[in-house]
Amino acid sequence: MNVHVGAFEKTKNIDPEVRVFATDVIDGLTHQPKKLSPKYFYDEAGSHLFEQITRLPEYYPTRVELDILRGKASEFAALIPANAALVEFGAGATTKVRLLLESCKIGAYVPVDISGDFLNAQADALKADFPGLAVYPVTADFTAPFALPDEIETMTKVGFFPGSTLGNFDPHEACSFMKLARNTLGHGALMLIGVDLEKDERVLHAAYNDKAGVTSQFNLNVLTRINRELGGNFDLSGFTHRAIYNRDRHRIEMHLVSRKAQTARLCGKSFSFRTGESIHTESSYKYSIERFQALARGSGWTPLKSWTDADKMFSVHALAAD
Ligand code: AVI
Repeated sequence: MNVHVGAFEKTKNIDPEVRVFATDVIDGLTHQPKKLSPKYFYDEAGSHLFEQITRLPEYYPTRVELDILRGKASEFAALIPANAALVEFGAGATTKVRLLLESCKIGAYVPVDISGDFLNAQADALKADFPGLAVYPVTADFTAPFALPDEIETMTKVGFFPGSTLGNFDPHEACSFMKLARNTLGHGALMLIGVDLEKDERVLHAAYNDKAGVTSQFNLNVLTRINRELGGNFDLSGFTHRAIYNRDRHRIEMHLVSRKAQTARLCGKSFSFRTGESIHTESSYKYSIERFQALARGSGWTPLKSWTDADKMFSVHALAAD
């Protein structure tokens, strides 16, 4: 549902999701410095652009994590007890979970994601390829408390959070997520989590400033989404993608930088931009093994084992619930 300029405050029957989106965008653009949540990247076009990013030569995280998952399959199989329930936080491409389903004796798969349609399509594809597997999709925002299906109550729970999505959380959000995952999965649970590592800044810079310009399109798409869903009038040619590594905060920052002094309107409100003023659209934190393990210890988990590739680009961690 779209909200047209000026109509937002007068309209009572707005879809609740659109209302939350509008409120977040207005709050973010009122904030100094301006910001938008990276969760709004992922409409249909944004999810498609992200899939393209994962196949770019410069974007190493997906490729390297898959290599680790493939290469260490027998070690994961030894760690995960037979008939465990695999609870995946977020539902993207199924490539990574398929590797675990092929190598480990998983009893049930529980993908948790806010987008029910996507989740059900993914669940159907997996059921077709793994006929004996019980699949219980849960439509929920996994950054807030949610209930696991009764059917897996007696099974050992194994959380799965690949892709370094944890890196898109600020440190306090990362800690809250890890604590929440610990409480949701319960006593005796395990967790497998993929975490991107600090490295040469040139490698990081290239990964978020690809030559083909897909990351730039992905970043700008949030303005297209605001224009379409909130009746905004952002001029996309007036903004440019910028991704820089903030060494002090161990994070890549993505920004949309205004090329000129301009004003954009949405939901009956005006937002002015100075030349060079930016909207901070995403942080992607990079960890050392030690800093990630300290985060895990501080949020109810004991690190069991960590794996990296030969070049120490990316890490996968097994944790046990305290
Ligand atoms: C989903 N997330 C882990 C990606 C990342 O690397 O932070 C999102 C992304 N942003 C730009 N490129 C990829």
